[in-house]
Amino acid sequence: MGTGPKGQTPVLPGGEVGAIARAAEVLRGGGLVAFPTETVYGLGADALAPAAIAKIFLAKQRPADNPLIVHVADVDGARALVREFPALAGRAATLWPGPLTLVLRRNERVPDATTAGQDTVALRVPDHPVALALLRACGRPLAAPSANRSGRPSPTLAQHVLADLDGRVDLILDGGPTRHGLESTVLDLTGRRPLLLRRGAVTLEQLQALLGEVDSVEDGDEAARARSPGLRHRHYAPRATVELVDEGTGEIAVARALAAGQRVALVCRRDVRGVAIVERLPDGLPAYAQALFASLRALDAAGLDRIVVEAVPEQGIGAAIMDRLRRAAAG
Ligand code: TXA
Ligand code: MG
Repeated sequence: MGTGPKGQTPVLPGGEVGAIARAAEVLRGGGLVAFPTETVYGLGADALAPAAIAKIFLAKQRPADNPLIVHVADVDGARALVREFPALAGRAATLWPGPLTLVLRRNERVPDATTAGQDTVALRVPDHPVALALLRACGRPLAAPSANRSGRPSPTLAQHVLADLDGRVDLILDGGPTRHGLESTVLDLTGRRPLLLRRGAVTLEQLQALLGEVDSVEDGDEAARARSPGLRHRHYAPRATVELVDEGTGEIAVARALAAGQRVALVCRRDVRGVAIVERLPDGLPAYAQALFASLRALDAAGLDRIVVEAVPEQGIGAAIMDRLRRAAAG
């Protein structure tokens, strides 16, 4: 696999049996396959093969200290990779297949390369027919970070994967736009109490209803933050500067940018007049989440200096949206 000219990586329809069989063969041979999940596209490799895992870090230009999520076909697949599967994990796993990743104590089958040397492993069962068919066909757990180059928004379309990783991945399975559009919720179950490491489509409220008290790394101290290696790295950042403003105040920020001679766009959930480039996203928060990363990528391709984004209410998946927007704005 090289890093040569554009147009090298084949894109196959994920719904076809032949495509799944070919992708499974690539994975069993230690190669890389990008595939759709219900959250975002993943860049997959055999989670138990260190040489294959090394290719993921190289292709993404991912910092070596950031561990990968391991995807499995079912709960038994997860149990096979951990030292203990506590009762809380059993309860949380009732949300599988789904956009929830559980951090548990790994066993000796999981190589250091996959967990970046951590004693824990992040596991999830994806809720997508193509991902599940691929997992079953190759018969291996698949390590798969989001299939973007590090620092870019996660891909919600096969074309996004191609834009970031053409020639760096052996095969892309196209499953159309991903349903949630934001990465999975990550929950650490290795401590005294469950710790929410990353917000996602499964909300904190849902987890509390299921598991009782759940801490959040956002409110945590240094020790809590140390349990989330992903927090150390820049994320979800388009090339343009992202400015997060209160809902209904976008025009003011746009006017300020224009006065400074910048090329600027406004992302919001309402109709706005008098602003040249407006990306109006759906009012409903699930639909907004689904569309967000594609919008950021499209605006970024337009070569803007600044993207002004209006805040959304932090209810339901709105909390995960705001988490991603804050990180993009901090870039
Ligand atoms: O929805 C998703 O989770 C997507 C799809 C492809 O499944 N994957 C994804 O992977 O978003 P990635 O690598 O972009 O994000 C994984 C996050 C990172 O923040 C990483 O630090 C954290 O999970 N993580 C992985 N293993 C961990 C571990 N052992 N302990 C703590 N955090 C871990
Ligand atoms: Mg990622």
